[in-house]
Amino acid sequence: MKHYLVLICVSLVFSSFGAKLPSVFIKCNRKQADFQQCLTKAVENAVRQMDHPFKEVGLLNLESLVIPELTVSAGSRVFVAQQTLKNMTLSGFNETKCAKVEFDFDKNTLNLDCIVPHFRFDFSYEINGQILLVSIYGNGTGWVVMQDSHFELSYQLGEYEKKGKKYFNINNHELKIQPRSIDFDLRNLFDGDEEAADRVKKILKDNALEIYKDIHSGYDAAFGKVFATIFERFLTKVPVSNLFD
Ligand SMILES: *[C@@H]1O[C@H](CO)[C@@H](O)[C@H](O)[C@H]1NC(C)=O
Ligand SMILES: *[C@@H]1O[C@H](CO)[C@@H](O)[C@H](O)[C@H]1NC(C)=O
Ligand SMILES: *[C@@H]1O[C@H](CO)[C@@H](O)[C@H](O)[C@H]1NC(C)=O
Repeated sequence: MKHYLVLICVSLVFSSFGAKLPSVFIKCNRKQADFQQCLTKAVENAVRQMDHPFKEVGLLNLESLVIPELTVSAGSRVFVAQQTLKNMTLSGFNETKCAKVEFDFDKNTLNLDCIVPHFRFDFSYEINGQILLVSIYGNGTGWVVMQDSHFELSYQLGEYEKKGKKYFNINNHELKIQPRSIDFDLRNLFDGDEEAADRVKKILKDNALEIYKDIHSGYDAAFGKVFATIFERFLTKVPVSNLFD
């Protein structure tokens, strides 16, 4: 009976504190004059370390994450082709630089503007459609590198209480990725017809930013959801009182 009680007490003590920020993360005092600058550094520092997991606060290793399938709808002007990307992995976050991270405590909004110098994703692809009126199809593996990509993220947070502690959740999120330039490879386009593949890859390369503008909403939505899912796992574990000093 005694052991039983002790166990209950211990588990209550643990859960009522919630998870603490990992000690290698920077913690900011919401009353400090340079809070926003501190938060900008703290977020940059945390994201850069996400090439390994922090299980105690629900954070995954971003580089080991696999997106099983992502279908990007055809654009309306230049890139009228549906793409299905499978087995997708992301990398490059270890070099993230954040220009601005702002938390508005009155509105519970979090806005981030960070740059990932070499945002890379690797995948298997299936594509079929038209690019600038030229037909394109293929099925193989590929990669994309977006250079100096601005990640503009905004979160509208809500609050709820769990075991007497206040926690944030995500009510709304938005992501816009704006790369300075895009490099890529798609292997096995046109069932391996190299000549046709080279011709179309040149068109793709010459118009990469224009094409991205035509189809970016599919990528923004997909990656936005990945980041929101990870961020929410973290917010579920760490109560508001442990996020800041
Ligand atoms: C998924 O990708 C990884 C590495 O990029 C590769 O090793 C693995 O074989 C792929 N799996 C499938 C099912 O294509
Ligand atoms: C980031 O990771 C890449 C690939 O693993 C590596 O080449 C690069 O040196 C790393 N950069 C930093 C700043 O750690
Ligand atoms: C693409 O290739 C994979 C593996 O070879 C196959 O399972 C799939 O059905 C192919 N898709 C198309 C649209 O040909």
